[in-house]
Amino acid sequence: MEQHSSLGTGTKASSAQGSAPGRATVVLTAVVAALGGLLFGFDTSVISGAMLFLRTDFHLSDVQLEFAVGIALAGALLGSASAGYCTDRWGRRWMLLVTALGFGLFSILTGLAVGLVSFSIARFLVGACIGMASLAVPLYIAEMSPARIRGALVSLNQLAITIGIGVAYFVDYYFAASESWRWMFASAVFPAIVLLIGMIFLPESPRWLARKGFRDRALENFRRLGRGDEAEAELAEVEGALQEEPEGFGILFQPGFRVAVLVGIGLAIFQQITGINTIIYYSPAILRMSGYPSAKAAILAAAIIGVANVLITVVSMVLVDRLGRRFLLLLSTAGMAVALTLIGVAFYHKAGSIVVFYEVIAYIISFGIGLGPVMWLLISEIYPTKIRGKAMSLAALSVWGSNWIVAGTFLSLLNHAGPAKTFWIYACLCVAAFIFCYVFVPETKGRTLEAIEHHWRHFGEKPAGLGQ
Ligand code: BGC
Repeated sequence: MEQHSSLGTGTKASSAQGSAPGRATVVLTAVVAALGGLLFGFDTSVISGAMLFLRTDFHLSDVQLEFAVGIALAGALLGSASAGYCTDRWGRRWMLLVTALGFGLFSILTGLAVGLVSFSIARFLVGACIGMASLAVPLYIAEMSPARIRGALVSLNQLAITIGIGVAYFVDYYFAASESWRWMFASAVFPAIVLLIGMIFLPESPRWLARKGFRDRALENFRRLGRGDEAEAELAEVEGALQEEPEGFGILFQPGFRVAVLVGIGLAIFQQITGINTIIYYSPAILRMSGYPSAKAAILAAAIIGVANVLITVVSMVLVDRLGRRFLLLLSTAGMAVALTLIGVAFYHKAGSIVVFYEVIAYIISFGIGLGPVMWLLISEIYPTKIRGKAMSLAALSVWGSNWIVAGTFLSLLNHAGPAKTFWIYACLCVAAFIFCYVFVPETKGRTLEAIEHHWRHFGEKPAGLGQ
């Protein structure tokens, strides 16, 4: 495989540093857009604390409760499938505006639900927003970022996801005392309002504008985003790449781009089937199983795991534009494989809860340094501008589809195979992920999106070299 071939250098624009106010606008834009990631994290995990109250209030059976919990993932499938088309057609900013509006509205509707049916409809719609945000946020940030800091800025999305997951635990904890599960869901309206207001003022992606032929606005937005004198050069590079791109989805079946599609879908599936959400959704149960003395102690330990997830994402953001995507992915998948093997060994030998706790922390750190943030980053970087949204849809769909499968099979796997074998299975999948990353994933650090596109277009034409 010649995945290591040079990704080209890009124009001078790739080294654009921009003016100080311009840089501030870029960072602010990324921070506001990342609120979509926060809502993604919040809304996927807030349900865990509300579950028990829902069961009592709506008199739910086990099957009904499982349905109420899982329905958001079904919504996410729909959201991620449709978001790509919509964002390519109507714009990145428009997509984020609609997503923010949806999050606000449907979170309130969830809080007002009167029974299983209205609750499930509202949560399905929230899920659709989660799916849309999962795609639109990294895409928008990637397209407006200068190449040099794109890794860190897009990873703000993952940072926000992890913060959202953490905030949901605290919100659940806070409202649990008064059993106000309605507020647990409805409180998502606050970040949604901030995102909505922010997106009214933030600029549309200059790359999308250029693709739609709005040259002047594209140039103006590159300037607003701090490109200064280099705005013209960056726009010229974008226009050059656009001219070479044929119209339509067919481009994805060209030899080089076929590999890009494979890389995106493969990374997405591996991010999920290596077990991250068994830890995120079930860590209190796993820790209890390993011998934690009380549910309270296990929940506290789970909160510590959540904090570790946030902190390691910050470290990853600092490293991703220096050490590169490939290095972090390889380090990450190797670390996850080792940690999961050890978790299995600890269960096998009944080594005790503290050992399992430290190993779970090691697993989360390994995930958070690479596979977590870098998957979302790479799928926002590796596709051509004209069909970036639609191609990202394929990858995001793969994330949500495999998330659904893993979340739906974990408990039965535990029951049938026992914890040791279950974690060893995930460990084997990490080894497969490592090999996949080693063979297929190119280095995109410091390259403009257009230089990355050039790489795929001429994939296989040049002998191997560079790129790592
Ligand atoms: C994954 C989510 C996961 C989260 C945990 C994200 O990158 O897509 O499925 O829950 O990371 O931090």
